[in-house]
Amino acid sequence: MARVWRGVVRTRAGLIRYNMRMEQTLILIKPDAIQKRLTGIILSRFEALGLEIAAAKVVRASEELLREHYANLKGTPFVDGVVKFMMGDYNNLPDHRIYAFVLRGENAVSRVRAALGATNPEKAEPWTLRGQFGCIKDGVMQNAVHASGTPQEAEREIALWFKPEEVLP
Ligand code: TYD
Repeated sequence: MARVWRGVVRTRAGLIRYNMRMEQTLILIKPDAIQKRLTGIILSRFEALGLEIAAAKVVRASEELLREHYANLKGTPFVDGVVKFMMGDYNNLPDHRIYAFVLRGENAVSRVRAALGATNPEKAEPWTLRGQFGCIKDGVMQNAVHASGTPQEAEREIALWFKPEEVLP
């Protein structure tokens, strides 16, 4: 869902026109970040962007949900490893869990992705979340956080992870 507000501000330098895209994005804090106790650090980065939390929960994601979430990876040699990783198998989590959030704010999708950095943590800029905290183990990228790549993806992913009534209007 993306709402666009257009407006004009009158300043001494003249009129400034603006387009504000209010967007929602799905965030998943992955098992590697949970094991390393990074949840607070990750959320503080998003708060500093001025984004609001519209939904939050602890999820024991089923294999079915994860395969649906990562439908774009179907047929790749690493999809099974990614699903196992997301189920906590590589991070010694006794009770496997993921922390899921819907964040909302101006241009939230692209701003959150910029804070994450590249998918491959070895290629992500060192000051991004994935650059700072990610690693690759057994061919699986343990990159700390998932965030939707586009507003369309966000809509699909939010509907997968949350019921409509769990997201603040
Ligand atoms: P993808 O959807 O391509 O990236 P992103 O998470 O940045 O949207 O891939 C999903 C996850 O799969 C990614 O976060 C880490 C993992 N992955 C690998 O382990 N190896 C790979 O070669 C790729 C492309 C992804």
